[in-house]
This record gives sequence, structure tokens and C-alpha cells, in this order.
Amino acid sequence: MSILTRRHLLRRAALSATAATPVSAVLGVSAAATTATGLAACQPGDSAADPATATSPDIRRSFPPDFGWGAATSAYQIEGAAKEDGRGESIWDSFSRTPGRTRNGDTGDVAADHYQRYAEDLDLMRDLGLRSYRFSISWPRIQPDGTGAANQRGLDFYRRLVDGLHERGIAPMATLFHWDLPQSLQDTGGWESRDVAYRFADYAAIVFDALGERVPVWLTINEPKTVVQNGYLSGHHAPGRQDPDAAYLVAHHLQLAHGLAVGALRATGSNSRIGPAFNLHPCYPADDSTEAAEATRLYDGYENRLYLDSALTGSYPEDVLADLGPNSRMVRGIRDGDLEIISSPIDLLAVQYYTPIYVTASGGMARRWPTSEAQWQQIYPDGMYDILTRVTRDYGQIPLTVTENGLPTPDVLSAEGTVEDHGRITFLRDHLAAAHQAIADGVPLESFHVWSLLDNFEWAEGYEQRWGLIYVDYPTQRRVFKRSAHWYRQVIADNAI
Ligand code: FCB
Repeated sequence: MSILTRRHLLRRAALSATAATPVSAVLGVSAAATTATGLAACQPGDSAADPATATSPDIRRSFPPDFGWGAATSAYQIEGAAKEDGRGESIWDSFSRTPGRTRNGDTGDVAADHYQRYAEDLDLMRDLGLRSYRFSISWPRIQPDGTGAANQRGLDFYRRLVDGLHERGIAPMATLFHWDLPQSLQDTGGWESRDVAYRFADYAAIVFDALGERVPVWLTINEPKTVVQNGYLSGHHAPGRQDPDAAYLVAHHLQLAHGLAVGALRATGSNSRIGPAFNLHPCYPADDSTEAAEATRLYDGYENRLYLDSALTGSYPEDVLADLGPNSRMVRGIRDGDLEIISSPIDLLAVQYYTPIYVTASGGMARRWPTSEAQWQQIYPDGMYDILTRVTRDYGQIPLTVTENGLPTPDVLSAEGTVEDHGRITFLRDHLAAAHQAIADGVPLESFHVWSLLDNFEWAEGYEQRWGLIYVDYPTQRRVFKRSAHWYRQVIADNAI
């Protein structure tokens, strides 16, 4: 069985694990194996760095003077207003309305109602002291059917949002695609169709034309890997497919779409900067066997190098291509010139870090650290240090931004109107300490965005998990700063943790 198929099975098993069932048990890994010491970082042979990020509130860590303190959201997760102002249907509308696809049948129809309440949310961002706000643009608001003329009312919303950010001294950072593909394009094959990459470039050109240099930083595609793994391997995200051969063709087309969008921005002569947003997972062997080291190397290929190498060096990793095989749809789908497009020079790389991956000798995944409410997330701040330093070591001094980092906590609005999410403060402080150490060791990290500004629709998990700095009381849409928001405001004011 190829690792690809094994991964498919394992991820599904891991996802069905409950709090009472350790992932290690689901995967048939002994607890002892998951507590191995001396784990190697990312590439077998490297030794794990020990940045000593166990943070003490007594140590003050100052960030560079112009550090971009930020928070992130995405369109489908917060906007609601699913039918407002000519918006078309996205694959997340149809997927979430399909019985059994999301927890409690939740949809993004209303979400945090940000489309109507954006002005209030802008004021909250100002109160928080944000210097950077990362949001995404909803493709079906701009092109309801995924092609053709722009829907001006959709563009107007983002014009108002961007103007409102500038008025409050907050730098906009816009993602072009955060998973809400127009349903009409899915109906013609979705990302399995090469043509969709070209439709994406057309859409990007419309958005660049409308917002131009008002947006200083553009991100192309959010987490192509999650579309591949969750949308096409496990199937628990839209479009809900379980087809490994299709999955990696989709990976190639997403990378192609990224490169085409970079070209579309350059064609406008814009001075804005652009790059991809990759969720990177540091991979470590779960024990010191040769088999675990080898399996880890291939995992790293699928998790990280598939995206990093193609975008930054213009080649796909040989080990992954060999594992996929010459007859795979992906390998057959790579055309002359594609990798030149995919590796069009970028200005910055957006890194999203949530969890490490520990790989067993048999190619399974093991758990070594406690998880958050999201069972896939092991809490390991040093992974932030490892992944940032690794990118700089292996790919050079490209400017980096962390565009997502955070966790869900069991937040409750008290009778006094407070939300005491101290676990989020500890998590963020420890991850910021790791980022700080990476900067000290030469990583050109320019900004950091907490996921998320607001509680929101967490995809297949619906509204059950709360990831925000700001609590959203969904029945009333009232917003409340959680304890972590107060803490983050002070961090920004001090420019230090
Ligand atoms: C990331 C997604 C983001 C959110 C967080 C928790 O993978 O980009 O939309 O779901 O995870």
C-alpha cells in the first residue's frame, strides 16, 4: 500500500477519534512511542532545536519596532449574508446545507454577520490596536458564477472594508481564495479542472483592478494542502471527495492558480506584494528507528515540500512524485512551463502553524503532546520555532508572515460579561516566544496574525469550536472582548510579550 493510501486511512481514523480516545490508540501506537525523546526536526538527521520557549511572564521579549501585530478571518467563516447583493453560491453553501456534513447542520448563512456589521468590527480592530488585518475575498460575491463580469456590489463591500481599515490605520492583507469556490465552477470539475486555475487568474485580475494598491499585501490561496487533504482525501470539507488520485491533481492546479495570480498582479504594474499562504507542519520521527526517519521524510514531502519546493524552487520533490507514480493524475497533469509559472517570484511567504506531526516507523501518526479541543492539534510551541527557522534555512531570506496561529478553547460568557480564556493567552504567549526566538536567530518574520479575530464558523465543526479573541454571542451577535483580547491589546501596545 502506498503511503498516500495509508495517509488517507489514518487521517480519517484520527478525525474520528474522540476526546476519550487518544489518537495514539486509534492509530495503534503505544503511548511509550509517543513520548520518545531526542526527536529529529523535520528532516531526518537534523536535531531538534531547543529554543527554550517555556515562557516566564518575568522575561520581557521586545519585537522589532515595526512588527505587524494582526488577526485573521475568512469570508465564509464570518460574513454571513449568503444571498446579499448578488452573491452566488459557493461549494461551502452547498456542502454545509447537505445533511450530515457539518456539526449540528451548521452553515455560514449568518455566521458572525460581518457583512452587515463590518463597521462595528472595524472599530473593535481599532480598539484592539491591530496593525494588520488579514481577511479573504469571497469569489462568489465578485463573480457569482465564477466567470464573467464583476458584481460591483460585491466589490463595493471590500472597497468599504479596505477604506475603513485605512481610516483606522490598519494595514489590509487580503487572501484571494479561502476555500469558497463558486459552485458553478465545481459543477464543471472544480480544482480537478485545469481551466479553473485560469478562471482564478481572471477573478484575481478583477480584484486587483478594483482594490489595487489599497491592499499592500495579497495572499493567493489559503492552505492548498487542506483543500487536498480535507476536500479530496478525507472528504470532511467541501467538496467532500475521497479520491487520492484526484487530490494531488488538485494540488497541482492550486499551485498553478497561485502562480497565475502572481502573474496577474505583476501585469497591473502594482507595487503591492504577493505570496501564498501555506499551513506547514514540522514532521518528527516518533522513535529513533531508520524506518521512522524514512517515513518522516516522505511525510514532510507531502506536508511541506510539495508546496514549498514548487513555489520557491520550481520543482516538485522527487520522493513525492515517485510515491505518487508516473501514472498518477498529478504527474500526468504537469505540463511544460507549469513549474515556471508556479515559481513566479513572490514577495513574501505566509506561514500558518498549528501542530506538529509525529510519524511512526509504519508510517502512522502518533500523539506526543496534549491536544486542544481540535483533536488534530497537538500543542507544541517549539514547532513554531522549528518551522520558521527551517523555511529560512532551506529556502533563504524570503520575508515571512505568520498568518494563522491559535486554538479553540471552551469559552463561556459569564453573567458579568467576561470570557476567561486563559488557555488562549498561554498558548499565544508561548508561540509568540518561539517566533521571537526565531527572529533573534535570523528569521525575517515581519508580522503575526492570531487566528481568529472573531469566533466563527469552523467548517465541519460548525460553531462548536470558538477560536476568536472576540466572543460572538450568536443569538444576539453581540461581541465581547475575551480576556485574551485584553491581553493581546497590551502586547501590541508594549510591542512585547
Ligand atoms: C485553518 C484555516 C482557518 C481555520 C483554522 C482553524 O486551517 O485556514 O480557516 O479553520 O484552520
